[in-house]
Amino acid sequence: MGVAGSSKKKIGVLPIIIAVSISAVVMLLCSITIKLHMKRRSLLPNIEVPKDKRMEKVPSNTSIAILESRYFPSKRIDDIDPFQTERPVIFSLKEVGDATANFDEMRKIGEGGYGMVYLGFIGTHEIAVKKMKASKSKEFFAELKVLCKVHHINVVELIGYAAGEDHLYLVYEYVQNGSLSEHLHDPLLKGHQPLSWTARTQIAMDAARGIEYIHDHTKACYVHRDIKTSNILLDGGLRAKVADFGLVKLVERSDEEDCFATRLVGTPGYLPPESVLELHMTTKSDVYAFGVVLAELITGLCALVRDNKEANKTKSLITIMRKAFKTEYLESSLEKTIDPSLKDNYPIEEVCKLTKISMRCLSEDPLDRPEMREIMSMLSQIHLASIEWEASLGGDAEVFSGVCNGR
Ligand SMILES: Nc1ncnc2c1ncn2[C@@H]1O[C@H](COP(=O)(O)OP(=O)(O)O)[C@@H](O)[C@H]1O
Ligand SMILES: [Mg+2]
Repeated sequence: MGVAGSSKKKIGVLPIIIAVSISAVVMLLCSITIKLHMKRRSLLPNIEVPKDKRMEKVPSNTSIAILESRYFPSKRIDDIDPFQTERPVIFSLKEVGDATANFDEMRKIGEGGYGMVYLGFIGTHEIAVKKMKASKSKEFFAELKVLCKVHHINVVELIGYAAGEDHLYLVYEYVQNGSLSEHLHDPLLKGHQPLSWTARTQIAMDAARGIEYIHDHTKACYVHRDIKTSNILLDGGLRAKVADFGLVKLVERSDEEDCFATRLVGTPGYLPPESVLELHMTTKSDVYAFGVVLAELITGLCALVRDNKEANKTKSLITIMRKAFKTEYLESSLEKTIDPSLKDNYPIEEVCKLTKISMRCLSEDPLDRPEMREIMSMLSQIHLASIEWEASLGGDAEVFSGVCNGR
């Protein structure tokens, strides 16, 4: 009996030992997981930019409020100077409202497809605030995500952002001279002097450098997808910066061939045939659009021009350039197409060279288009030759009148 009793006892203890060991192991695992999670959280930067998938789930105003509380901490560290830090700052609604006199109409400096842009002041600093409808959260986050990471002299700088019930706000450095488009198309009506030839070659180089940077020199490779003259801004010295990254797309550097968009985006007059026909999109789509920008710099015309014969019809600048380029006598045919506001003050050989680059960028086959880095080196030669040409004029009043104030 005694033996039987002791064996009964042994059978009763074993399951208890097993149960206790299992629960100890489970508790240990739980505590390790919690610790790891806490550690990861503490390593995250203060400003967390949500991933694409999360962004797409922001359809209604109420979810914007939730988003704000999740991704936009209500307080920012007060001693951070928004103009010194490399990181974008989170502004309160009051701050963006105060800076822009509550988005006063008089402060409106621009309007694009995604929002109105207002001039603002924070202390003595000038800023530009883009106010976007909350429904444009996809474009807002696309721009935020890229500009948080990309800092370059030829890319507009993002200072910070803010979120409200119905609107989202992007706060940029203010670029004094507005968009290149305003300086090329009816500049006098918009209060600008026409750009000189050397100012144009400098602007072409600056914009090319900004685009080359996002294609070749950032960790991820980006396609801007909306390169056009209204998205190139000019500072006080007429140096250019690429802006408006609302349609930017990250592409694989190694496998560009396989990148297809889910919908057609961009601006008519700047879209390459492969994007229109097959939604195909690579860095060469930006090169094509840049070809149109060069054509605008040469001709002063818009990407889509009203037809002289039929009022309701538009003609593309690409067609006009191809026609001028087809002839054997490029110089004489170009002279009819060059921007009349240049008043014959240009070195025709350099204009021909720039036209040839523009036409290569506008090749039907993306493989025939140059890369931005190649364009950059060709442009710098044209710019240097143009400066030499200008110097050889020995201070001709007409040409230099613009150069003095940066033109
Ligand atoms: N940082 C800035 N400084 C000065 N003007 C700006 C700035 N950002 C935008 N603008 C003006 O506002 C216009 C629209 O801005 P953009 O970023 O292109 O908006 P959208 O995404 O709506 O097209 C530009 O063409 C330009 O005239
Ligand atoms: Mg724009």
